[in-house]
Amino acid sequence: MEKYEWSTPDWFFRLLNKEFWFTLDVTANRRNRKCRLYLGPDHDDPRRRNALECSWGRSVCRMNPPYSNIQPWLEKAYAASLNGALTVALVHADTSTRRWAAAAHKAAYIIFVTGMRIPFMRPDGTVGKSNTRPSALLVFAGAREACTTARFWHPSEPLRGLGPALDALMFGA
Ligand SMILES: C[S@@+](CC[C@H](N)C(=O)[O-])C[C@H]1O[C@@H](n2cnc3c(N)ncnc32)[C@H](O)[C@@H]1O
Repeated sequence: MEKYEWSTPDWFFRLLNKEFWFTLDVTANRRNRKCRLYLGPDHDDPRRRNALECSWGRSVCRMNPPYSNIQPWLEKAYAASLNGALTVALVHADTSTRRWAAAAHKAAYIIFVTGMRIPFMRPDGTVGKSNTRPSALLVFAGAREACTTARFWHPSEPLRGLGPALDALMFGA
């Protein structure tokens, strides 16, 4: 099975979902989708099979992109945010690369996952051991010239303090 089919552990998704209330999984298939609504190659509606080419509307999106080439995904997430979508992208924290830094600066919010590596799951539900890299969440929520807010988060802690920051991102509060 291709590595790009590996999925986010449910417990990790639930922690984030408590804060964001996702409505659309933009990189998925019917089996590994984390939201009822998803975009992916096996979607019944051919117009919803390629997330890079369809609208994400004003959805609250979660994205765990195929890691072979995340650049177009980050560009799409930012572009979609200019049209009203909010996207939380789970990516490697490749802070040393220029491409990562350029994309991250367009994020409204960066959350560095600390103290652990995310144990992504194979399609059969078994946990892989091969994630050797740290992760970060890039939150795309509209036009930005430089990201102004970043924080560290260990998943054993509640995402305290994100509430008001999120309200501001999502509702302009
Ligand atoms: C790393 S997996 C993430 C799976 C899962 N949604 C999760 O995080 O638990 C990436 C998923 O993106 C899907 N995918 C690949 N190309 C896509 C495309 N152009 N549009 C939407 N989904 C795509 C694959 O089918 C695969 O299931």
